[in-house]
Amino acid sequence: MTDVEIGSVAVVGGGFMGSGIAEAVAVAGIPVVVRDVDRAAVDSARERIGQSLSRAVSRGKLSHDEAAAVLGRISVTTEFDQVAAADLVIEAVPENERLKLEVIAAIGEVVGEQTIVASNTSSIPITQLAQAVTQPERVIGMHFFSPVPVMALVELVVALDTSAETLDGARAFVERIGKQPIETKDRAGFVVNMLLVPYLVAAVRMFEEGFASREDIDTGMKLGCGHPMGPLTLLDFIGLDVTCAVCDSLYDEFRRAEYAPPPLLKRMVASGRLGRKSGRGFYEY
Ligand code: CAA
Repeated sequence: MTDVEIGSVAVVGGGFMGSGIAEAVAVAGIPVVVRDVDRAAVDSARERIGQSLSRAVSRGKLSHDEAAAVLGRISVTTEFDQVAAADLVIEAVPENERLKLEVIAAIGEVVGEQTIVASNTSSIPITQLAQAVTQPERVIGMHFFSPVPVMALVELVVALDTSAETLDGARAFVERIGKQPIETKDRAGFVVNMLLVPYLVAAVRMFEEGFASREDIDTGMKLGCGHPMGPLTLLDFIGLDVTCAVCDSLYDEFRRAEYAPPPLLKRMVASGRLGRKSGRGFYEY
């Protein structure tokens, strides 16, 4: 590989984030392989990407032919060795440190020496994850935002061992797929979640205290501040379990009360009220 050029990409984990990342990569003209654990998982990744592309067509973002070409650039697999040829492998499995370490170690075993290994984690230290491979200098955080096809930002998380070459390659790739990179050091929350999560958590506390209704809290921030979604709707969209995991890692890192998950958030997660994906959260779907 000439120092930084990314000609092919693999995404490990075809869930909501992984399939969104794969779609954004393929829309930019880069072939991408999505690896997940079984046939059902890869089929649902393909279906999710197909639905999102149809939405892009119906919103006039892509033509039918372009959407078909995008799908043609995406292959799915359950085999780990299918990611071996990629210049960049992006890990996007669920937010569980042990799982991510296993997956990154498995990626490290199959890829070439020059491959950049990126993690889409929103909360686990990249420096820790990088220890799973023999060359931690090629590991970087690449934090996408949801929904990935629409959100223009990617946080590049520079860990203690990340090399300048890895950072340059990651930055060039993010720009090539039409997104704006920002750089952040490797600490919990990076830039965006460190600012966003205390705001979301404050909205949960406000609702928990009975200070205002869910609708009025959301309408307040939508119409008062021009946010596309109010905080409780956004929590349902992100997933209450994901938000709780980010709260835990922020609280663990900084021990500041503003990051502690409120009791209501923890109880909602315990009862399976995870937001849109489980059919109920602060709202019903
Ligand atoms: N592909 C391409 N473009 C698409 C698309 C798709 N699949 N779906 C929608 N769009 C485009 C639409 O064409 C539209 O673009 P224009 O304004 O240029 O017409 C735009 O996206 C908005 O779409 P809609 O008009 O359909 O409006 P919506 O209400 O359905 O928007 C939303 C949905 C984009 C999600 C919007 O509500 C929003 O921006 N919400 C906030 C999302 C947010 O804050 N995300 C960050 C979460 S935090 C995170 O991810 C980090 C973490 O670690 C927790």
